Amino acid sequence: MKSMHKLDINLVEMTMDVMKYTINRISNTNPDLGAPKTEEKLLELVGDTVTENGIGGEKALALFKDVLVKATVPVDHPKNFAFVPASPTRASILFDLITSASSIHGAYWMEGAGAIFCENRAMEWLVSLTGLPETAFGVFTSGGTSANLSALVAARQTWRDKKEERKVLRSLLLTSKSAHSSVKSMANVIDADVIAIGYEDDKMTGKMVKEAVDNLSEIDRKRLFAVVATAGTTNAGIIDDLQGISQICSEEDLWLHVDAAYGGGALAAPSVKHRFAGIENADSITIDPHKWLFSPYDCGAVIYRDMELAEKAHSQKGPYLSIFKDEGAYGFNPADYQIQLTRRVRGLPLWFSLAMHGTKRYQQAIERGLELAQIAERHIDAMDFVEIVRPVSLSCVLFRRKGWSAEDYREWTYRNHKEGFALVTPTQWRNKETGEHETVARFCFINPDTTQDDIVSVLHSMHLD
Ligand SMILES: Cc1ncc(COP(=O)(O)O)c(C=O)c1O
Repeated sequence: MKSMHKLDINLVEMTMDVMKYTINRISNTNPDLGAPKTEEKLLELVGDTVTENGIGGEKALALFKDVLVKATVPVDHPKNFAFVPASPTRASILFDLITSASSIHGAYWMEGAGAIFCENRAMEWLVSLTGLPETAFGVFTSGGTSANLSALVAARQTWRDKKEERKVLRSLLLTSKSAHSSVKSMANVIDADVIAIGYEDDKMTGKMVKEAVDNLSEIDRKRLFAVVATAGTTNAGIIDDLQGISQICSEEDLWLHVDAAYGGGALAAPSVKHRFAGIENADSITIDPHKWLFSPYDCGAVIYRDMELAEKAHSQKGPYLSIFKDEGAYGFNPADYQIQLTRRVRGLPLWFSLAMHGTKRYQQAIERGLELAQIAERHIDAMDFVEIVRPVSLSCVLFRRKGWSAEDYREWTYRNHKEGFALVTPTQWRNKETGEHETVARFCFINPDTTQDDIVSVLHSMHLD
C-alpha cells in the first residue's frame, strides 16, 4: 500500500504547486475580493472531495484555487475596512509555512525550546510596549477570545485563593457596555455574572467604576472579582479611562484586565501611545498580533503582571506531564499560562517578521493605519453627502451617509461586495440627540497599503444614485 508519509514524485510536484500558489498569492497586493456562495452551490461546483481513494492533490488544489478560495474574502484586501481586518506581512506568512513544516509542539520547553525562545523575544517586545514591570510576561494564544478567557480564569483563581468563602461564591465581573462580545461569552464559559456599565458610545471612567462598585449590594460586592476595561473598542476604537479605572481597582483590590485585542498594536505608535496611560497598572492584557501587528491568523496574546498567578490557574497536572517539569526540560512552558495544552508556536511568524524588519517598521505601518483614519475623516468633512458621527478614534471612522436608511447601508455593502469592489460593513450607533440607535457606516484601517484613492472611491460609491 502506498504511504501518505513517504516522499514520491507526486508529493514533490505538489510541493512545487503549493509554493507557486503561495508565491503568487503573497505577491498579489490586490487580491480578488471573493464572495460567499451557499454550501449547496459550492457542492454543486466541486462535487465530492473526500472519498475513499482521494481525488488527488492536483485536483483538490485546483478546486481550492479556482472555486473555493474565490468564495472567501481576503482580510488583507486594501479596500477591506470591515470588522477588524488584517494584513499579515509577507515575511510572517512565509514563516507560517515554516512553522507548519517544522512540526513543533509549542506547549513545553522540552519539545519546543528553540521556537519558544523566538516567541519569547517577540513577547518581550510586546510586554515592553505595555509599560508593565520587567517581571511581567505573556504567551501567544489562538486569539483575543482565548486570551480574555485565560486572563479571566487567572483573575478568578487568584480571587478565590485569597479567601476560603469565595470558593462557593458565584463570581461577578464588571465591564463596559462597549466591551467586546467575547468578554461576556467568556464570563459565561467560567460561569461568572457580568454587570455592564456606562454607554456603548463613550469610554468607561474610573468614576463610573467607583459608582458601580459602591452601588453593589453587599453580596454582589463579595462576588466581584475583576474589572475588564477596553483599550480600543471594536466598534469605535474608544479607549477607556485606564488610569482612573486602575486606581479604583487598586483601592478595591480588584483584578484589572485590559482588552486591547484590537487597539494594542497602537501601543507601538508614538502619536497615540499616551492615550493608553494606565495600562501599565493592569493585572493582565490581551493584544491580538493577528489584528494590528500584522501576523497571520491565528495569533493572540495574553500578558500578565504576575506570571505565578497565571501558572497557578493554568498549569495542568498529570502523570504523563511530570517529565516536562524535570530539570533537564526546565524552561518556559507556554501551556502553563493559558487554556490550551498542545499548541502551535503561533508567535513564530511574528518573531520572524520582527527579526527581519525591526520594530521601527512596525511602528511606521501602525502609524499609517492611524493616518488613513485621519485622511478618511478629512475627506468625509469635505463631502456634502456624508458626515462624521464621532471624532475618529485609533483607526475607526464612523460616518453617516445623509438621508440613508438601514436598508440603504445594507444594499450598499452587498453591492460593493458583489461587485468585488470593497468590503465595508455598517454598524449601529446611539444617536446622542435622539437616544435612538441608528445604522451608520464604519471604516477600520489596518492595511498600510490602503491608499487615499481607495478611501475616496469607497466614499464615492455612496453617491452613485
Ligand atoms: C476588543 C476585542 N476583544 C476581543 C476580540 C476577540 O478576538 P478574537 O476574534 O481574536 O478571538 C476582538 C475581535 O475583534 C476585539 O476587537
